[in-house]
Amino acid sequence: MRLVVTGGAGYIGSHMCKLLSEAGHQVCVVDNLSTGHREAVQWGELEVGDIRDADFLRSVFGRFSPEGVLHFAAKSQVAESVQEPADYYDNNVVGALTLLDQVRRQAGCVFVFSSTAAVFGVPQTELIDEQHPRNPINAYGATKLAIERVLENYAIAYGLRSISFRYFNAAGADPSGLIGEAHEPETHLVPKILMSALTQGEPMRVFGEDCDTPDGTCVRDYVHVNDLGLAHLKGLEFLQKAEGAHFYNLGNGAGFSVMEILAASEAVIGRAIAREICARRAGDPARLVADATRARKDLGWVPSYPNIAGIIGSAWAWHSQRRF
Ligand SMILES: NC(=O)c1ccc[n+]([C@@H]2O[C@H](COP(=O)([O-])OP(=O)(O)OC[C@H]3O[C@@H](n4cnc5c(N)ncnc54)[C@H](O)[C@@H]3O)[C@@H](O)[C@H]2O)c1
Repeated sequence: MRLVVTGGAGYIGSHMCKLLSEAGHQVCVVDNLSTGHREAVQWGELEVGDIRDADFLRSVFGRFSPEGVLHFAAKSQVAESVQEPADYYDNNVVGALTLLDQVRRQAGCVFVFSSTAAVFGVPQTELIDEQHPRNPINAYGATKLAIERVLENYAIAYGLRSISFRYFNAAGADPSGLIGEAHEPETHLVPKILMSALTQGEPMRVFGEDCDTPDGTCVRDYVHVNDLGLAHLKGLEFLQKAEGAHFYNLGNGAGFSVMEILAASEAVIGRAIAREICARRAGDPARLVADATRARKDLGWVPSYPNIAGIIGSAWAWHSQRRF
């Protein structure tokens, strides 16, 4: 297929491009390089521009004629979204709507959307499945939920076929060592721990130990970045047959606290990591763990990295020999 990948210079998008190109697809990355890296675009062509720029998108779509769009481009820091919601609505909602204007005019073009566990807000059940109410507690989650609703409406009105994948916590890196997680500033736990171990500078800051969890620190479900990519490959196949707007939660179904991730990281790298307890962050639920049964059943998705040690090990291989 000819596929536009927005945000393909970013962490998850660049891994996706590698998997797509290995599967024989033709890739065109659309990215404004606000948080992404030119060096990460190694599979497919790169069009530098912003998804809020309708003229730019029109020219890319006119030239490339995509049969599908995988939409990763977004701002995605929970705490920042609480401070600067206008930026989040502009980038994530206005940007996605501008992009969807092109998509729905492109006959037969399917759409795969990077949604998030943040659409659910505070969990009401131990594991979160697709039936769980969507009640985001921060602007980031609200922007993603807005687009999920748009996709439901567009399926009915315009016949747009789509999948929204709600990632829990993406982690790990491609085993080639060519790409990996490289956010600046880094806010994600696994890379922060590994970078703090490498530089041996400031101790690792743990935000809050007063959550309603066994050790008081936040619990998250970590899923390997290539397993997210694998779900997208399966999703593209599924959309060849399935009409409508579809929603899948993607996680391993196991929760790890911040302290458990620190311990697992210490085991992987073989040294102690200094830590410092700080205040809890605004807009952070105590526990988010997926029930991904639907993705396994409908899409035949079977993650290749079910264990946390394997996920952290792949991230460590990248960070200890980082190329960008
Ligand atoms: N990383 C996670 O754990 C996680 C979890 C849940 C959902 N997600 C979602 O997955 C997607 C990818 O996340 P990531 O961690 O790879 O982020 P990232 O910041 O590494 O990648 C985002 C990419 O989008 C580009 N971009 C941002 N705004 C743009 C715009 N207006 N126009 C063009 N390009 C733009 C950036 O330059 C960057 O290359 C995001 O939509 C995010 O909300 C990520």
